[in-house]
Amino acid sequence: MLLELARKRRILFFGGKGGVGKTTVSSATALARANEGARVLLVSTDPAHNLGHLFDRRIGPQPVRLSPGLDAVEMDPEETVATHLKEVRSALHSLMPVTQHRDIDKHIELSRDAPGMHEAAILERIADVVATGSEDYDLIIFDTAPSGHTARLMVLPEMMSAWTEGLIKRREKADRFGEFVRELGSDRSIEDQTIGDSEKSEREKESKIRQILLRRRRKFSQLRDVLADKDQTSFVIVLAAERLPVLETIELHAQLGRAGINVEALVVNKRAPEGMGEFLDKRHQQEEQHLALLEEKLGQISRQDIFLQASDVLGLAGLEALAASL
Ligand SMILES: Nc1ncnc2c1ncn2[C@@H]1O[C@H](COP(=O)(O)OP(=O)(O)OP(=O)(O)O)[C@@H](O)[C@H]1O
Ligand SMILES: [Mg+2]
Repeated sequence: MLLELARKRRILFFGGKGGVGKTTVSSATALARANEGARVLLVSTDPAHNLGHLFDRRIGPQPVRLSPGLDAVEMDPEETVATHLKEVRSALHSLMPVTQHRDIDKHIELSRDAPGMHEAAILERIADVVATGSEDYDLIIFDTAPSGHTARLMVLPEMMSAWTEGLIKRREKADRFGEFVRELGSDRSIEDQTIGDSEKSEREKESKIRQILLRRRRKFSQLRDVLADKDQTSFVIVLAAERLPVLETIELHAQLGRAGINVEALVVNKRAPEGMGEFLDKRHQQEEQHLALLEEKLGQISRQDIFLQASDVLGLAGLEALAASL
């Protein structure tokens, strides 16, 4: 079922609670598609990366070839924040008098650890990967950080565009006001000034800051469109067959729904196998009870169960076995 979904969509997000198997299952899905001949990019957005551990090799911000057709990237939020702040800093420096540069630098340093800074940076990188990766890859799979973080990221494009929208409006007002004051200072009449203003806006004389904001807004709203496009993008929730994870999955599904994100698959991982002794049978029965609630609330969404393996899933060899079962 997961593989079928991966054939239909261009972008897949895997989310869920910590330790449920997001990295394992998303990697196995990516490998299964690559084995069929698709060009796949696997991207970890989790600051506590574990793609590298799973594949037992170094993976960084630049794509690394893991197997034929399968590349991987681990986003580096620190580096992304640094790059972003450097850009903002140099834009501000070029706009403001030298006497204010030290104050600007101080503000930039403070915003490095501001709430949401990392999320915004990751979101910007996701937008970049989605925009540029579409040419080189048939499928992009995002292995995300545990639930809360992911859901926040998903509603962020909306918030970010609302935020930049507000800034742009304020900026436009300031521009118009500035011109108005300048025009008043000249000997032209108000009538002339009004005509002059509209001519200028027709010529789209945008201030530099406004251009930066517009570029960001465009980036976020494009991402927003791709995320909300059900033909292109889908979200997979990975969970364990336990009480809390089931409740959290129902909540995460609702949150994502509010953000316009389509959840198309649930993966119940590490299920206790049946017929392997009394202990596991009992465990299996217990799981069935918890899954009854999942079925009741989210029965309309396709579900795939993956059994608990005897040993950890490690390296390409371990993943191949899992990929073959999808
Ligand atoms: N079906 C399975 N059977 C046995 N072990 C599994 C299975 N799926 C995952 N594991 C093991 O569980 C551990 C956690 O898996 P994984 O790293 O994929 O989870 P995660 O959701 O990505 O975790 P995190 O939230 O920390 O990123 C790993 O050691 C992995 O090998
Ligand atoms: Mg992980």
